[in-house]
Amino acid sequence: MAQKTTLRGRFLKTCLLMILLSILIALVLVMGMLAVFISQVPGEDNIVFAVLDLLRGRSEGISQILPYIVLGAVLLCLCVAVVCIVLTSRLTGQIGVTLRTLRQDADRLQAGELDFEVLSCRERELDELGKSLESVRQRLKTAANAEAKAQEERGLLMANLSHDMRTPITAIKGYVEGIRDGVAGTPEKQAHYLDIVYSKTLVLEKLVRNMSDFSEYELGRMQYHFEYVDMLAFLTDLGEEYRLEAEEAGMTFTCSLPRGRYLVTADRSKLKRVMDNLMSNAIKYSRANGAICMTAEGYEGGLVIQLSDNGKGIGSEALSHVFDSFFREDAARSSAVPGSGLGLAICRSIAESHHGKIWLTSRKGEGTQAYLYLPLQREEDIL
Ligand SMILES: Nc1ncnc2c1ncn2[C@@H]1O[C@H](COP(=O)(O)OP(=O)(O)O)[C@@H](O)[C@H]1O
Ligand SMILES: [Mg+2]
Repeated sequence: MAQKTTLRGRFLKTCLLMILLSILIALVLVMGMLAVFISQVPGEDNIVFAVLDLLRGRSEGISQILPYIVLGAVLLCLCVAVVCIVLTSRLTGQIGVTLRTLRQDADRLQAGELDFEVLSCRERELDELGKSLESVRQRLKTAANAEAKAQEERGLLMANLSHDMRTPITAIKGYVEGIRDGVAGTPEKQAHYLDIVYSKTLVLEKLVRNMSDFSEYELGRMQYHFEYVDMLAFLTDLGEEYRLEAEEAGMTFTCSLPRGRYLVTADRSKLKRVMDNLMSNAIKYSRANGAICMTAEGYEGGLVIQLSDNGKGIGSEALSHVFDSFFREDAARSSAVPGSGLGLAICRSIAESHHGKIWLTSRKGEGTQAYLYLPLQREEDIL
């Protein structure tokens, strides 16, 4: 890469050039004058004396050469002035062009135009300014791309959610019509229909809850209602629910909890949302003979809850992105596994609002371990 010069360097170079050119012009003029003077001195022997006489002002030729000296001085001033004007205007012109280009680039950025490259400049200071503009442009472009992608994902998410809602709504409509039109003739059949309607409303309720969680999260307006939560009782209840869920999915579920009292300040429903997402991931990304295990243990003034599965696992590159919004390892739209890629992002936001942490460890093809750390409420602080 060519060495960049500083503005000061360029200015000094131009000054030096001006001085050199001025000296050159002065020399040429002096030589010219001498030549004129010499041509008027008869005989070569007298040249040195004639010049000395001239310098001492004793020469009679001085009156003849005086107009030439005046003319030479005027010419010298004119030439030096021309040289200065040409060189400084060349320098300021070049800097002006570069500054105008940078200004145009800044205007383009301000107008939201991001598909161009800020070119490098010859002068180091302006080049640094250009590089700063270029890095601003690149950052804005990355942000704009991410926003466009998130926008697209958001649209897709809403389309999926409304599609997912249509199925239970159609079922509810069908069964209610069946009851109304007397298709369910017997009380047993009616009770059966009502059970189905009830289970479909639970599905709908979950979808609506997901939707409001998504929008609350997106708007950064998650509402928390904190209370003291006895984690062992909470996890025992969850364990029961998850055992049924796992069995329904043809998997096994084991739960091993410690003894003792583990009290945290938490929003129950939000904490359940976190655990539900970890559990649904363990089921969704399982393989044949899936086994899920939930454990908990006290660690450094907190409680670490672990949910492990022996499913597909996550590749190491993907593992560093699983908490990003809309990230899914298998992002192919044709993916048969439903999901938005927002679950873990929401989980992390909830965990952080509880002053806790959430993280995953995983090996591709072997399984995944999800951990949730929550700080315990100190007994002496409990009212
Ligand atoms: N237990 C797991 N086993 C395998 N992959 C997982 C597991 N949990 C999360 N992942 C990966 O992390 C991604 C992000 O998870 P999440 O944010 O819950 O989104 P979603 O469940 O909607 O796909 C998933 O798409 C999946 O690729
Ligand atoms: Mg999920």
